[in-house]
Amino acid sequence: MISVTCVAPVNIALIKYWGKRHEDLILPVNDSISMTLSTDELCAKTTVTASETFERNRMWLNGEEVPFEEGSRLQRCLKEVHRLAVAKGSQKVPPSWKLHIASVNNFPTAAGLASSAAGYACLVYSLSRLYDIPLNEELTTVARQGSGSACRSLYGGFVQWHRGALDNGSDSVAKQIAPSDHWPDMHVLILVVNDARKKTASTRGMQQSVKTSQLIKHRVDQVVPDRITKLRQAIRSHDFQTFAEITMKDSNQFHAVALDTYPPCVYMNDVSHSIVSFVHDYNERMGSYHAAYTFDAGPNACLYVLAENVPHLLSAVQKVFPNDLTDGSTYLRGLPIPEVENTESSKIDSLDVHAKNAFRYIIHTKVGEGPSELGAESLLMNGLPLEH
Ligand code: DP6
Repeated sequence: MISVTCVAPVNIALIKYWGKRHEDLILPVNDSISMTLSTDELCAKTTVTASETFERNRMWLNGEEVPFEEGSRLQRCLKEVHRLAVAKGSQKVPPSWKLHIASVNNFPTAAGLASSAAGYACLVYSLSRLYDIPLNEELTTVARQGSGSACRSLYGGFVQWHRGALDNGSDSVAKQIAPSDHWPDMHVLILVVNDARKKTASTRGMQQSVKTSQLIKHRVDQVVPDRITKLRQAIRSHDFQTFAEITMKDSNQFHAVALDTYPPCVYMNDVSHSIVSFVHDYNERMGSYHAAYTFDAGPNACLYVLAENVPHLLSAVQKVFPNDLTDGSTYLRGLPIPEVENTESSKIDSLDVHAKNAFRYIIHTKVGEGPSELGAESLLMNGLPLEH
């Protein structure tokens, strides 16, 4: 029996991936750029155990067994890893040995955060450790086939997923633009919005957009290529002003495409829209961009903010979106917020106050590293989940 356990990060897109040119291979219609978040606050954790005594492949997700179906994305990732192992002549695990896989997220799925990206990145990275395959661009093509955005979670820092041109997808790879220590004071506040509506899943939503939206064509041909060049440059030169403007505009355009889809996909709600107005008001009062919002296929906001501006931004958020949860430790999660003397409180005095309790909680995190292997920890004991 041989076993590995790894963690992998969540990534949040700055320039969004939306739309596929090949459904099964998961080839995107445009390049995208993301920032990887620290695994200390948000991560997927996966144990893969191989044994000659296992009769079939099995998988448990957050403790529940999930089917290992022929033709599924899961099966496809496994086949691709086997192919790479054979090509590399890796002898570490006999290919006939079946696998038991357990995976958990350390954040509630209900939070609506990108769990599939971290999950598939963790699966593929764990398999690569098990079969002794190097982490390189080719491995990102495997994670991509689990969930498109997962290929970006194989690297830390700032990452670009290149759409590629080839029909077989071998050039549709993720590459690191800059490691996490290039811009270590890039922090994020995730505002987890209270929302109970049922939403269109990303996979289905983007299919509809490609079929029906005219705006997506303009986005792919005219807008994204230029934004990619400018954002890469902004990241390289630590230019938060350009970074913030491109990030906010791209989030807005992605949601415009979602609304231009027929029937429309509505991901942001009223609270999301008031966060957008708040950030614009706030930046105006501060005299330059101090915060940048982005929204994925759901109502939660990710606010990018430099470390030195976190306490002031958070006090403004708390003023505009008050909550009366008495237990502050479950409301404010993640990295501690340093107490600083607030010299600029007058600037936020006149901000409009929103209705109470708009957020479930707020997570404070920052740019982080790619996946890593954990030493002794395991989610499986004798091939079965610990909580089984
Ligand atoms: C809005 O990667 O979840 O988060 O490839 O169909 O699994 P599939 O979709 P997925 O889509 C993510 C879309 C997004 C934008 C982004 O992360 O770039």
